[in-house]
Amino acid sequence: QNARESLYIVSEYAAGYFANELWTGNDGRAIGLSYFKERGFREDILKKFQLGYSPDVWDALIQNAVGAGHKEEYLEKTGLAIRNDKGKLYDRFRGRVMFPIHNFTGRVIGFGGRTLKTDKNVPKYVNSPESDIYHKSNVLYGLYHAKKAIRDQDNCYLVEGYADVLAVHQAGIENVVASSGTSLTTEQIRLIGRFTENVTILYDGDAAGIKASLRGLDMILEEGLNVKVVLFPDGHDPDSYMHHVGSGEFKQYIEGNRRDFILYKATILLKEAGTDPIKRAGIIRDIIESIAKIPDDIKAAVFIRECSSLLQVEERILLSELNKMRAAKL
Ligand code: CTP
Ligand code: MN
Ligand code: MN
Ligand code: MN
Ligand code: MN
Repeated sequence: QNARESLYIVSEYAAGYFANELWTGNDGRAIGLSYFKERGFREDILKKFQLGYSPDVWDALIQNAVGAGHKEEYLEKTGLAIRNDKGKLYDRFRGRVMFPIHNFTGRVIGFGGRTLKTDKNVPKYVNSPESDIYHKSNVLYGLYHAKKAIRDQDNCYLVEGYADVLAVHQAGIENVVASSGTSLTTEQIRLIGRFTENVTILYDGDAAGIKASLRGLDMILEEGLNVKVVLFPDGHDPDSYMHHVGSGEFKQYIEGNRRDFILYKATILLKEAGTDPIKRAGIIRDIIESIAKIPDDIKAAVFIRECSSLLQVEERILLSELNKMRAAKL
């Protein structure tokens, strides 16, 4: 049994332990399970994603795992346990609801743990560190549970957070993944590209989410994939919105508010620019910058045409701007 295998085994053991605590532990049920229920998550979803609860004790997992014959070394190497200055081991995750992170073959490689406290000084999520089995930049949360649906639907919904994956799934949309724990990477986009060429961004409708969506859509275009975006109202994220309006209306909202990247960018930027003509000219340039990232010339030409009619600027002017930008990049 090699070293990496030992890390998978201890991670899977921990996932089982946390899940068991959630469903059968006193605190797990009273605190963890009630928390998920109050947030509106169904039991089948909690089970499907192997959600759990880490007891609020310094070394609950360590005691249990070592008692079952697991080595401290592997608990430490997965980051489940941390050694302090005095050489004593303690659990990284304590008193949190636990989201196991699976690789796309379904093995557990890490965890996200959410606090139940509202104290602003406590980090909302604690995540497993990088390890020999967990390389954050090429992992997508939910991919294992989504990959078949991504192929079947020929589209991948991309959300920000763990809870968003669960909520969208619960609404009956299973082709959904999150770039949790890191901002979106090129490797993650290439991973999606193995299953589909179409990505729909469902990021949080707050300033941070909008900023991340603009960065993400450029990266997705650069990888030659097609991208659409849905903007959620009033600072909602997919999870809060789904629970706010229910799954039927949620699905309708996504269908009705899916925008191609040009329309999305134009809407966002025009809102920011107001009536200032210089700012409006900047927007046109900004949108062409996105189009310039598309490797396929024919697709780029189609978007130039759309941009021309949307912003009422002659196509030939946009094309010359596009060519200038491309030349500058070479
Ligand atoms: N995140 C993190 N560490 C934090 C905050 C956020 O790793 N301190 C990651 C988590 O993967 C989280 C995602 O970024 O799911 C999105 O963050 P945020 O929108 O703040 O959290 P939500 O997913 O909406 O969490 P919740 O609905 O549970 O409040
Ligand atoms: Mn490595
Ligand atoms: Mn957010
Ligand atoms: Mn959020
Ligand atoms: Mn949320």
